[in-house]
Amino acid sequence: MSSIVIAIDGPAASGKGTVSKAISEKLQFHYLDTGKLYRAIGAKYLEGDEPISAAKNLKYEDLDNYDLQKPEIAKAASEIAAIQEVRASLLNFQRNFSRKMPGAVLDGRDIGTIVCPSAKIKIFLTASLEARAYRRYLELQKTNSELKLEFIIDQIKERDERDQTRSSSPMVAASDAKIFDTSELSINEAIDEVYFYIQARIN
Ligand code: C5P
Repeated sequence: MSSIVIAIDGPAASGKGTVSKAISEKLQFHYLDTGKLYRAIGAKYLEGDEPISAAKNLKYEDLDNYDLQKPEIAKAASEIAAIQEVRASLLNFQRNFSRKMPGAVLDGRDIGTIVCPSAKIKIFLTASLEARAYRRYLELQKTNSELKLEFIIDQIKERDERDQTRSSSPMVAASDAKIFDTSELSINEAIDEVYFYIQARIN
C-alpha cells in the first residue's frame, strides 16, 4: 500500500500553511512546510554560506534554529530557490517525506508539478495580492509593529514574480490541481472548503 499524498501549492501568504496544517491534523497525516527548507537555506545564505552547499548539508534541526518568518529571510529564500542545484538537492528529502504512512500533506510552490507529480490530491490555493499582504501584515505585526503594509505588499509582489518567472520549477498550478481563491474567505471557511473537497476524493 502506498501513502496518500496531498500537494498544496500557492503563492506567498495564500493561507496554504494554515490550511495544510489543519488538514493534516484532521486526517492524522504527516505535514511538511517545504517553504521552511528554502527559508533555512536563505537564513544560512544571509550568514554567508554558499547556497548549494547549505542545501546539501541542511539538517532537519536547522528548520527550528532561525526565526524563519522574517521578511529578509523570505526574500533570501526566494533568491536561493531559483538555483537549480539547490532545488535538486531538496528533492529526495521531500519525496521520502511524502511516502510516510498513512499519508502526507506537503505545501510549497512545486509540489504538484515537480516534487510529487502523481499526488492523489492537488490543490492550488490563491488569493488577491491585497488579501494576502494584509493577512501577512496582521501576522507579522505580532512580532514587529513597525512593519508597514506597503512594504509587505511590495515584498510579496516581488517574491511572487521571482517564483513565477524562474526557469527551474516555477510556481504554477498543476494542470490537474483544484484551484481555490480564498480572498473572500476566513481561514476557517478556507479550511472547511478544502477539507470537504479532499474528503470527497479520499473516500
Ligand atoms: O512558502 P514560503 O513563503 O515559506 O516559501 C518561501 C520561499 O521559498 C518562496 O518564496 C519560494 O521562493 C521558495 N519555495 C519554493 N518551492 C517550494 C517552497 C518554497 O521555491 N516548494
